[in-house]
Amino acid sequence: MILTFFDSHAHLDDRKFDADRHEMLMRAEQKGVSNIINVGYDIPSSRRSAALAEKYDFIYAAVGIHPHDASEAGENSLEEIRCLAASPKVVAVGEMGLDYYRDLSPRDVQEQVFRQQIRLAADLRKPIIVHDREAHGDVMKILKEERASDAGGVLHCFSGSMEMARECLKMEFYISIAGPVTFHNANKLRQIAAEVPLDRLLIETDAPYLSPEPHRGKRNESAYVVFVGERIAELRGIPVKELAAATTANTKRLFRIKE
Ligand code: NI
Repeated sequence: MILTFFDSHAHLDDRKFDADRHEMLMRAEQKGVSNIINVGYDIPSSRRSAALAEKYDFIYAAVGIHPHDASEAGENSLEEIRCLAASPKVVAVGEMGLDYYRDLSPRDVQEQVFRQQIRLAADLRKPIIVHDREAHGDVMKILKEERASDAGGVLHCFSGSMEMARECLKMEFYISIAGPVTFHNANKLRQIAAEVPLDRLLIETDAPYLSPEPHRGKRNESAYVVFVGERIAELRGIPVKELAAATTANTKRLFRIKE
């Protein structure tokens, strides 16, 4: 079995990679990272994500509006997301959701733009990538009210409780775990990483943010998804090859990537 990691969530169009983007991608490939989903958070980054996916075979894109950027979004933004999503390399709508930690857009606007994007994804028959920071209750309520399980999707950089994870699994959502699982104080997340059924688990970097140990505090990059995978394999008591193969297969199944 060859090691194949899938970084299911990264922002490699970020300007922090402008000086060495290609070299960074080659480092990821050398570490066994065979695929990456590059995720948009507003219109310009969604355009850049789609362009990056056109440039590199092994990169796929998601297009959407992050709750931080919800107040900038209008009807035109949704239409633009719809147009960008027509590309075959665009496999999901997102990231979308609620962020009550930073509250950069008013909460009612965050909610409206979240709901609109869930409906758009259902219409386009693409899964969704959900961002939830300190908004667990409202995120679950909206996912249920909008019947988001029809579109399917993933809770990215999961930060909820085991109970919330079980609720997501019941709705047939996937759970994606990022670098914080390697942090010393992540007891709750470690338990979730160990207990989520292996066929519903994804791994990610969220690069350039959230670098795992031993790179915590520095720029993150897709090669470091290996540290996330190794930590979770250790927690579950399985070989890293098995964890890598399962999470790669899960990501391809969710985003309907055939290769
Ligand atoms: Ni992200």
